[in-house]
This record gives sequence, C-alpha cells and structure tokens, in this order.
Amino acid sequence: MIELKHITKLYGSFKALDDINLTIKDGEIFGIVGQSGAGKSTLVRCINMLEPPTSGEVLINGKDMMKLSKGQLREERKKIGMIFQHFNLLSNRTVAGNVAFPLELSGVPKAEQKKRIDDILDVVGLTEYKNKYPAQLSGGQKQRVGIARAIVSNPDVLLSDEATSALDPETVKSILSLLRDINKKLGITIILITHQMEVIKEIAERVAVIEKGKIIEEGSVVDLFTNPQTETLKKFVGSVMSSDVPEQLSHMNITPEKKSDADQTVISLKFRGDVANEPIIANLIRQYNLDVSILYGSIDYIQNVSFGRLIIMIDGDEGNMNDALNHLKELPITSEVIGYVRSDN
Ligand SMILES: Nc1ncnc2c1ncn2[C@@H]1O[C@H](COP(=O)(O)OP(=O)(O)OP(=O)(O)O)[C@@H](O)[C@H]1O
Ligand SMILES: [Mg+2]
Repeated sequence: MIELKHITKLYGSFKALDDINLTIKDGEIFGIVGQSGAGKSTLVRCINMLEPPTSGEVLINGKDMMKLSKGQLREERKKIGMIFQHFNLLSNRTVAGNVAFPLELSGVPKAEQKKRIDDILDVVGLTEYKNKYPAQLSGGQKQRVGIARAIVSNPDVLLSDEATSALDPETVKSILSLLRDINKKLGITIILITHQMEVIKEIAERVAVIEKGKIIEEGSVVDLFTNPQTETLKKFVGSVMSSDVPEQLSHMNITPEKKSDADQTVISLKFRGDVANEPIIANLIRQYNLDVSILYGSIDYIQNVSFGRLIIMIDGDEGNMNDALNHLKELPITSEVIGYVRSDN
C-alpha cells in the first residue's frame, strides 16, 4: 500500500504540490489526471523520492521513505519501476542490453540476468527483437522495452508518467492491454499519470484529479466519469463521454426558464446498463398519461459497465408531470430537468 500524507513540494516559493493525501491499494490501477503543470510528474517523483517532498510522509507498505538511509532507499527503489513518455532508452545498447541495465546495477549474476531478460521479453512480446537497437524499433516497441526494463527486477509498483502520450491510438490500446496483463498476472500495482482520459477510462479502477498542486476530486472511475463534480473533471470527461446537452439539440432553443404553461419540459436521464430493462418511458406514458418524445440517446462503456443516457421531452397535465418527476427521483437513475422548449402552437 502506498500512502501519501500531507505532501507539499516547494520550488523556491512556488508550491508545486499542496497538502496531497492519497492511498493507493496493492494491486490496483490508479490514475492521476490533470492539466499541464498541475503537478502530476512532481507527484509521482515524490513517490520514488526522485524528488523528495518538502514536507509530509510517503509510506510504502508502512515504511516512511523520507526516513531511509541512502542505501535503504536504493533497495526500496528496486521495488518501484518507472516508464516515461519518451522511453529514455540507451541508444547504444540493444533491447536485451537496455533490459539488462537495472540487473547489472544490482549485481545480478550473468546467467540469471540472461534468464530474466528472456522471460521478460517474452512477457512484452519482444523476443525476436532482442538484438535490435532502439533506433530500429517503432514507438510502441520502444515502450515495450521501457516496460520490460521497469519490471525485470520484479517490482511491486510501476509508475507510468504519460507512457502512452507519444503513441498513436492503436499502439496506445496494445500498450494498455500489456499493462493490464502485467497488473493481473504479475500483481504489480500501477500508478498511471496521463492527460488522456481514454487511458483512464480503459484501465484504471480509481482516479484522482489534480489541479494547481491539489487533489480536487478522487474516487472510482465509474462514479467520477458518470457524475463529475468539478468543472475540470467535467471538461476531461466530456472528451470521452457524451456531453451534457449534445450539440445535436442546440437548434431546439432549450431555455432554462419556463416561459409559458404550454412549454414542454426537457429531461435528462442517466442510468447504468443494468437498470435499462425497466420500462421507464412506458411508465411515464401509461401511469402519468404524459406525451413523451425521445430527443437523444447514447450508450457509453467504461470497461465492462454500460451507461445509458436519454434526453426526453414531456408534455401533459402539470400535476401529473410533477408526480412523474418525483417518481423518477425514486428510481436508481439520475434525472434532471435541463430546460423548457416553447411548444409550436
Ligand atoms: N525543478 C523544478 N523547478 C521549478 N519548478 C518546477 C520544477 N519542476 C516542476 N516545476 C513546476 O511545478 C509545476 C508542476 O510541474 P509538473 O511537471 O509536476 O506538472 P505536470 O502536471 O506533470 O505537467 P505536464 O502534463 O506538462 O507534464 C509546474 O508549474 C512546473 O513549472
Ligand atoms: Mg508531467
């Protein structure tokens, strides 16, 4: 378990991290998102002490990283692998030579090095590229070398700082699926820093949003993506989930105020796939005698959970309408009146 307690990092008088508190559980994939300059890289560098915090505690399995001697810190660091956006490979070494590097540093015997390198190149699918040089590899292959080098010493934790940011979408997918395999099969905890929301949506279980050195929102990916609280997260989520009022409806002149009793009410409904079987719309029509038109519908997937979204327009007796709105509030869905539309007549 990794616990960050009241972490603050100052560069001169500039506060890059401001009272960060975070707990990352063993075996999870934890995402950290934020805009450029938010403090993401500084935060991960505090975890492995590449950048010691100005104050606070970094506890890894209960051990306070700030209180270790240089030698102890060197030992603890072997349990934390790291991968980078630009791979940071040694260009004058082959694939096998790059992966060997951390093993050489910790004095692993040659014969064991060979075996470990072969095993790990098999895990990342680069066995055939063993004797190639970085310049002869694609970006995705280079990142596989970076991953192999990061996990060849059997770490408990893998820190990933924008590791997929320099790759094309197809390659991103294959690297994410490799990271997921490593997490599941080898049980390595992964901390993923990224500004790519699709990365978080694809593999992270929990996520923290960082802004100006502070954590402004934190929770399960499913909860935060379906119900973001801050403007920052709403903007991030908007890039991978259907937005609040879809552009397709902009021609409808939805107004926030009701202008006349004849106006129709526009309602947004959001629900998890597992309640989609309830005849919500049919009930509005049958039970409350309302006219219902469907304006918009979409389904998003976060890992294997589906999320439906419907925007409907209802019209009918005022009392029935209020009863219907109250009824919607009792269902396991999020319903919200998003405005009114002038009726044509
Ligand atoms: N060594 C340093 N000296 C002074 N200021 C620094 C140093 N490292 C980072 N900063 C500042 O701290 C803030 C956070 O930087 P950091 O690199 O953690 O951001 P980030 O969220 O990783 O951004 P990006 O998405 O662009 O990588 C920035 O304003 C940056 O200018
Ligand atoms: Mg960064």
